[in-house]
Amino acid sequence: MITIILSPLSLILSLFLSTIIFLLFRTTTAARRNLRPPPGTTGFPLIGETFQLISAYKTENPEPFIDTRVARYGTVFTTHVFGERTVFSADAKTNRFILQNEGRLFESSYPSSIANLVGKHSLLLMRGSLHRRMHSLTMSFANSTIIKDHLLVDIDRLVRLNLDSWTGRILLMEEAKKITFELTLKQILSIDPCEWSENLRKEYMLVIEGFFCIPIPFFSLTYRRAIQARKRVTEALHLVVCERRVEREKGLKKNDMLAALFDSDCDDDEIVDLLVSLLVAGYDTTSTTMTLAVKFLTDTPSALAQLKEEHEEIRKKKGASVTLEWDDYKSMPFTQCVVNETLRLSNIISGVFRRAMSDVKIKDFTILKGSKVFASLRAVHLGQDNFADARVFDPWRWQKISDPSNFMPFGGGPRRCPGHELARVALSVFLHHLITCFSWIPAEEDKLVFFPTTRTQKRYPIIVQKRDVVE
Ligand code: HEM
Repeated sequence: MITIILSPLSLILSLFLSTIIFLLFRTTTAARRNLRPPPGTTGFPLIGETFQLISAYKTENPEPFIDTRVARYGTVFTTHVFGERTVFSADAKTNRFILQNEGRLFESSYPSSIANLVGKHSLLLMRGSLHRRMHSLTMSFANSTIIKDHLLVDIDRLVRLNLDSWTGRILLMEEAKKITFELTLKQILSIDPCEWSENLRKEYMLVIEGFFCIPIPFFSLTYRRAIQARKRVTEALHLVVCERRVEREKGLKKNDMLAALFDSDCDDDEIVDLLVSLLVAGYDTTSTTMTLAVKFLTDTPSALAQLKEEHEEIRKKKGASVTLEWDDYKSMPFTQCVVNETLRLSNIISGVFRRAMSDVKIKDFTILKGSKVFASLRAVHLGQDNFADARVFDPWRWQKISDPSNFMPFGGGPRRCPGHELARVALSVFLHHLITCFSWIPAEEDKLVFFPTTRTQKRYPIIVQKRDVVE
């Protein structure tokens, strides 16, 4: 019993001491070499400023955490969050530089708790030439041509199928998640919604929860549950991969991501990890953006009215056909403004973590080799110097913006989101069918929070009513 109590205590003590020794060593080495790291404060030993960050992000307005530090130290500053001293960038140019120098000066860096959940062969963890090859293979299954020729018809059909069952009070976030999961499964495995896919989704939700809990394997029930669910997901996907290999040997070839992976040199373990990471990356992000677009529109009736006009116009032109085609998608300029503005304001991926591979000079400072770096997309998107009235939902701003270089919701450089076009198309198709088929009102007050992820507290309950067909 005593040893059980003593071990965590001695672990904490030795962690504390080693952190102090490491920091002292780094500070003196930096001082000796006359290097100036970005200014800032690192808060308390071990926990740093983590609690300040978490409590800010649990509110509707987390910006003061960044604003006060930017005002005090500038747009690139040092803090200490989630157990590590971290250089925080709220500067658009610096963020671009960090992202574009992936693999040269910086490399992506995830804690082992996340690596265990996505799998060691995930795209998120790959590096070097293997990463470049698999990133471009993923892109080749989510680019405009493949969406136009192949995926759009499924996106349109699956969105309509889901919306057809809506009546009365729904939790929009849950419905959107169901839609995006089904879309991704179709895209990567050619599987249509069924009991198997719904069961897989439930397991997936447990895996996703594991990303956002405090990952102490033996103490966190959520994390343990996530690891077990990950095992079941892996087993289920392995079975699908095996069956498809057999079909393929018989000459049956499907046009999906799995077929493309069979054509590469990957073995089954690598394929399954890649599939898991694709489902992780596309599921929560797109569904949360769908939900928040509807929330922002509901709160901004003039934008909703203009969007309605755009979609009713498309509907009228199409006559009896309800299926959206590529040309319809391309004639939604205001919808693209709404999508951009939702991505800018909601920042589903608020920023990306990297690690410096060597000492890197940025502005008048040096980011020391080995330092953790957080390129905050959110801080740039909500920075008043980058966007006028940056914290207001104003889709019309996109009719005037000619240089969108401060806007990076999908990241940048070699790790730029390969699903960016797919997400845009899914969002536009979803908005089209929602707006032309339904009217809605919020069922209760709900508010946005940003920790552990960006979401609305109550999963955005709304009451929907089917509209008469647009004449
Ligand atoms: C609104 C929806 C989405 C947003 C905001 C988003 C955002 C991002 C961002 C910021 C990154 C860069 C991460 C980094 O640099 O470390 C990323 C990477 C990634 N995204 Fe998305 N994403 C979305 C939808 C999707 C979809 C639908 C897919 C499915 C194909 C997808 C697949 C991926 C993958 C596989 C990566 C990892 C790329 C790599 O490390 O090379 N995403 N996403």
